Amino acid sequence: MLSKQVNERLTQVSAGTPMGELLRRYWHPVATVPELDAEPVLAVTILGENLALFRSDSGTLGLVAQRCPHRGASLAYGIPEEDGLRCAYHGWKFARGGQCLEQPAEPADSTFKDRIRIPAYPVQEMGGLIWAYLGPDPAPLLPRYDLFVRNDVEREIGITRLPCNWLQIMENSLDPVHLEYLHSVYMNYVFKRAGKPEPTTTKHHERIAFDVFEYGITKRRLWVGDSEDSDEWQVGHPILFPNILSVGEPRFPQFQIRVPMDDTHTYHVWYRCKSTSDGVAARQSPHDIPVLDYAYKEQNGRLIVETVSGQDMMVWVTQGPISDRTTERLGTTDQGIILYRNLLLDQITRVERGEDPLAVIRDEAKNTPMVQIHREAEPFRVAAGDNDAFAARHERGTAPV
Ligand code: FES
Ligand SMILES: [Fe+2]
Repeated sequence: MLSKQVNERLTQVSAGTPMGELLRRYWHPVATVPELDAEPVLAVTILGENLALFRSDSGTLGLVAQRCPHRGASLAYGIPEEDGLRCAYHGWKFARGGQCLEQPAEPADSTFKDRIRIPAYPVQEMGGLIWAYLGPDPAPLLPRYDLFVRNDVEREIGITRLPCNWLQIMENSLDPVHLEYLHSVYMNYVFKRAGKPEPTTTKHHERIAFDVFEYGITKRRLWVGDSEDSDEWQVGHPILFPNILSVGEPRFPQFQIRVPMDDTHTYHVWYRCKSTSDGVAARQSPHDIPVLDYAYKEQNGRLIVETVSGQDMMVWVTQGPISDRTTERLGTTDQGIILYRNLLLDQITRVERGEDPLAVIRDEAKNTPMVQIHREAEPFRVAAGDNDAFAARHERGTAPV
């Protein structure tokens, strides 16, 4: 159970809030390359800020405040040009750095434009995603986590915009035990009600453990009946601080990235990979990555619960826009959640002291692709999922975590 103050400290993400300042020390994905190919100016919301992402005619990326400082029209409907983005309303043009370059209707000798500047942030491409950094200079390096830079994987990106705070999604990743119920007992119940055979055999956790390491937290589990040599116990899998979960099985690794849009909405990226056989290079270009909307609701408005990812989204969303942690009752299996919250609070304090928090990388020599921990253990499968139907429905082949 948390006090109201601590819950707010952990969940509020706008500029000037403790968590908002911590999260501004990291790069976050805000869109995908194929989306920007289809529409060169996009509206994005991240950390409580409404921004316009654009690719200029010269190919460079820009990210500026969405609201035009003239009279407030949205630059997300602007015109990209060689050197910036022009407002559609009266043509004010802004450079990638935010400086106003032109005001077509003002007198030719006016210096008014020199005094107009809008917020602007650095952006980079990596792995088919567009990443933004909203923190203070100098920006740290964009971490080259393996799935974003490996050349032996094909990728598919699923996007869901969820109506809940980012923290309850991340807390789920520090909660290995939910697999036993949500993705097994409940999964079987849902299938039985639909008149289908039960897809899972419920296993039990004998032990869970969590280890803080250089880039986050490794979570481990020991199943009842497994030996301590099992990969799930010896190796586990990582939560890359602050907001990336690394899961999947060796041929189908994935990241799940939870980017706060504001206090009550999260941009959820399902970054799914399929490794090629024998490590040969994949032919897929970032421009060809399939980008899909992953639904969390049925057409009738009921939340999707017959899939692993749907079940996860159901428990994230039903905790409410911001989970009220003043009334929660944590048990012994919530130790990972307590560790994660404490780690977040520690890192907030580090930022308040002017230090870099965990997993901020500034040394180019250290920013080599970090190889994902591949578990060789028999994956926990659900239903008759067919991993080769990679681009079909999003739940297939997803190992519950
Ligand atoms: S509102 Fe943008 S130029 Fe007038
Ligand atoms: Fe789950």
